[in-house]
Amino acid sequence: MSARPADPPELHWRWLGEVDSTNLRAAAFARKGAPSGTVVVAEAQTQGRGRLGRSWWSPPGDNLYLSYVHRVHLAPDQLGGLTLDAGLAVAEAMDELGLPAGLKWPNDVIVAGRKLGGLLTELHTDLPGGDTVVVGVGVDLNTRAFPPELQPLATSFALETGLTVSVQRAAHAVAAHLAARLQAFESRGGADVAAYLERWVLSDAPVRAGDVVGRAARVEADGALVLVAEDGHEVRVASGEVTSLAGWPARGGAA
Ligand code: BTN
Repeated sequence: MSARPADPPELHWRWLGEVDSTNLRAAAFARKGAPSGTVVVAEAQTQGRGRLGRSWWSPPGDNLYLSYVHRVHLAPDQLGGLTLDAGLAVAEAMDELGLPAGLKWPNDVIVAGRKLGGLLTELHTDLPGGDTVVVGVGVDLNTRAFPPELQPLATSFALETGLTVSVQRAAHAVAAHLAARLQAFESRGGADVAAYLERWVLSDAPVRAGDVVGRAARVEADGALVLVAEDGHEVRVASGEVTSLAGWPARGGAA
């Protein structure tokens, strides 16, 4: 008989005003011993950070800036798929709030072809409490006007639904799904590929990843993206970014 997976950890909330970055605050709490399930939420960020060295637009009040502390049991080289499952958790939370969401590899949260949210997952191997992942989540909730450079790319819960949602409600939904998904990831030892592919907005789309142009074939449990290149060979992409060459399919969610 297989052991029953442990329950997700209890959540420990830290509600903050303006901070530099919730990922930096969460790492600082973890350094002082904060356990798995510590959730840092801020009203605004002055140095909100995105993937690949980008910044994350973080005006006060309207949107979700959340970081989740997860103490890791798997080895660092087994964590590649964690970020896919963290993206799944955010998409599931959006479903719960009434806005079905898709995912673009590795973990952009997409609605109607635009970015609703993104995740920045950072592994710390130098903390006294052991290896720790901080999952940072930014979701545009109640913003109705973006800066000009984001307007063609971004959307928000309010723009898509015509409704507002409280940061607190969104934070509770996201944190609960993250706790469950990260726990399940540790038990499974890899990403939930089937669930991810159901939400994947780039399925079979023509894409570019670095120098490779091809069709987005699938993702794997270790988090890699597999492209079928123009010459028919499969190419695994472990990190970085993928660009659609045909525009994202304009679908709202998980279908
Ligand atoms: C991306 O799509 O590039 C990732 C964006 C991640 C933004 C969030 S907001 C909360 C947390 N704190 C940060 O500084 N970044 C993440």
